[in-house]
Amino acid sequence: MGKLLFALLSASFALSAAAVGDPKLGQTLHDKQCISCHAQRFGGDGSTIYTRAERKVHSLSALRQRVAYCSMQTNTGWFPEDEEQVASWLNQQYYKFKTGN
Ligand code: HEC
Repeated sequence: MGKLLFALLSASFALSAAAVGDPKLGQTLHDKQCISCHAQRFGGDGSTIYTRAERKVHSLSALRQRVAYCSMQTNTGWFPEDEEQVASWLNQQYYKFKTGN
């Protein structure tokens, strides 16, 4: 059991280290768990939080951090690769930072 858990964890770290976010999966995760608060504050589907002029996130690493932070606050139970997928989708859809890999 311990060994299996370790193998699973190693696999998820390897994945996130390689930054192979799948934007499609990320969108599904995001739409399920991330819209409620943002929509309450910003209206509509909440996506203007990502595109408003005074948005807070200005780099890919800041985006990953913010996704991790909101994910933790929301108790999503996501693995690092889930967060990577969501960050990847948000970047593709809204932020459009250069990914560098
Ligand atoms: C409990 C409410 C809540 C939930 C649920 C929530 N967020 Fe947030 N989110 C916030 C608040 C509050 C801010 C900050 C708004 C500000 O600073 O103006 C924010 C900001 C952000 C930003 C930065 C936007 C910018 O300014 O560039 C990102 C990215 C983000 N959230 C991603 C997520 C993701 C991914 C999830 C799903 C795991 C999520 N959020 C779920 C409340 C929430």
